[in-house]
Amino acid sequence: MALPEEFLQELKSRSDIADVVSSYLNLRHSGRTLSGLCPFHSEKSPSFHVYPENGSFYCFGCGAGGDVITFVRRIENLDYMEAIRFLAQRAGISVPENEADQGLSRAKGRILEINREAARFYHYQLMQQEGTSGREYLLERGLTLQTIRRFGLGYALNSRFALVNQLSKKGYTPEELLQANVASRASTGRVVDRFFARVMFPIIDLRGNVIAFGGRSLGDGKPKYLNTSDTLVFHKSSGLFAMNFAKNHSKDGLILAEGYMDVIALHQAGFPNTIATLGTALTVEQSRLLARYTGEVFLCYDSDEAGQKASSRAIPLLRDAGLTVRVLNLSAGKDPDEFIRSHGEQGPARFRQLMESSGNDVEYRLQKLRGRFNLQTSDGKVAYLIGAAELLATLDSRMEQEIYAGRLAEEIGVERSSILMQVEKNTKKRKKEKDRKEFRAFQQQTAGIRDTVNPEKSRHLRAANAEEALIVYLFQHPDAVQALSELIPPEKFITSFNRRVYTVILGKIKDGKACGLTDLAADFSVEEISAIAKMLADYHQVNVTAQDAKEYRNVILQENGKLDPQDASSAEPQDIRDYLRKLREQKK
Ligand code: CTP
Ligand code: MN
Repeated sequence: MALPEEFLQELKSRSDIADVVSSYLNLRHSGRTLSGLCPFHSEKSPSFHVYPENGSFYCFGCGAGGDVITFVRRIENLDYMEAIRFLAQRAGISVPENEADQGLSRAKGRILEINREAARFYHYQLMQQEGTSGREYLLERGLTLQTIRRFGLGYALNSRFALVNQLSKKGYTPEELLQANVASRASTGRVVDRFFARVMFPIIDLRGNVIAFGGRSLGDGKPKYLNTSDTLVFHKSSGLFAMNFAKNHSKDGLILAEGYMDVIALHQAGFPNTIATLGTALTVEQSRLLARYTGEVFLCYDSDEAGQKASSRAIPLLRDAGLTVRVLNLSAGKDPDEFIRSHGEQGPARFRQLMESSGNDVEYRLQKLRGRFNLQTSDGKVAYLIGAAELLATLDSRMEQEIYAGRLAEEIGVERSSILMQVEKNTKKRKKEKDRKEFRAFQQQTAGIRDTVNPEKSRHLRAANAEEALIVYLFQHPDAVQALSELIPPEKFITSFNRRVYTVILGKIKDGKACGLTDLAADFSVEEISAIAKMLADYHQVNVTAQDAKEYRNVILQENGKLDPQDASSAEPQDIRDYLRKLREQKK
């Protein structure tokens, strides 16, 4: 993956980390650094910092960190080369590709071509005489020809070779068809169509590429839907159906439904801001993607038990992504498609009403809770109130708490203030628990317990801290490389992760190459880069001097001498962090 040095330098100089990060979140200047709300976890006060001086970022809340490439990898969910291409495109320069990468992007390109060809073929078949059963099925379900065309719906013939033959004629190899997952290998060894006798729903990404298909059987055939498995171009946990259309209609909120047919029926009914996941539960990734396009989500899952469960699971994810969630209450036994259809001409208007009257998720959850108790009895009332007070304690906004406490008071006939008191108590309890949890996480983090990047750190804390200081020293003083490598060669490093970092940096500098965090991005994983960014962030505004470096070397040599796990734990992780914090504060 060796990209030419000149290219990397050019890319780096044109990809200012503050610029790139600011296109995703608001950054405020504080001294020489910038800070903002971390895009990688949800938080109310900013612990995400950008250090333009060394081109790094680090979040003290969740530990995500790195350089501009790592940032793009994380936020756009890309691999290293994809992130490079993304930044290059942004900077308007072209990427010199080596053979392996060319191979990969060629393979991806072929899959996309195959998918496009297949989508065309399926659509063509749907419109032909042979596709009558598919066409009738869709029309029967209330779709217009215009809708069918807009979504590029299709029909896979009841044949095992229709698509395979067609695409083979066009020069695609059986292996390529398997890779695209439009074909499968039969027990006889032959490569055959994966989809047959199904109406086909192409799944299109934000750039307009056909990345996968969902195929529905016309009758009760199992499985009801057959979907493309993950391929080089498709990951079902991050895709969203119809987002290619909905992204242009998202300013007044997005409607999240469960199924392909629900989405299509709602689009046809005048709600082009509807999307669905691809037969999987909503993921954190998808929630974040939604949050990039809108501030409000109307949750419109089926009214059956499975749909309700899915709602309960989706709500906290959406909320955590910073979205306001409103839950639509479809009448019993319905999904949005049936709802629209069953109201005939009134369908769209009735659905609009449903949206307008939809409660937010707090109301939804209170209503669920209420359903579990008999409010005619005092016991039932008390139990409901206790549950409700717990629920209200999870809200961040005091105003919201007061509003709902007011409503509850009226509903049950108790004083609002006593409900608020109970809420307050729960809030305190929750806060205590949260603090305790955070403290434990912090302790583990500082002690290196469960430190997957440098698992040896917990056993050799004193040495590992000294090693990290020396790594920072190298970043800060690349011209001291010769002296330092004589002072302490990599073999003396005790923890192997730090040794690897040290070795790579020494190598780069000695080869006359630039060595900032960005120059390491190709050699380390996203997690590893985070760990290195943390070292830099810990020592931000702390200059490690040559004298310090000598002392750290002595620590490492001492530790080398004993290497007894019992003794090594004598350094107090807490102290080291406190010490650094103090130093930072003094220098401010
Ligand atoms: N799904 C799937 N595989 C199945 C069943 C469902 O992948 N065997 C996915 C599909 O994405 C489907 C969604 O889960 O769209 C919701 O399922 P369901 O409510 O059954 O789908 P609908 O779109 O309502 O399908 P229909 O109205 O055609 O029955
Ligand atoms: Mn349905």
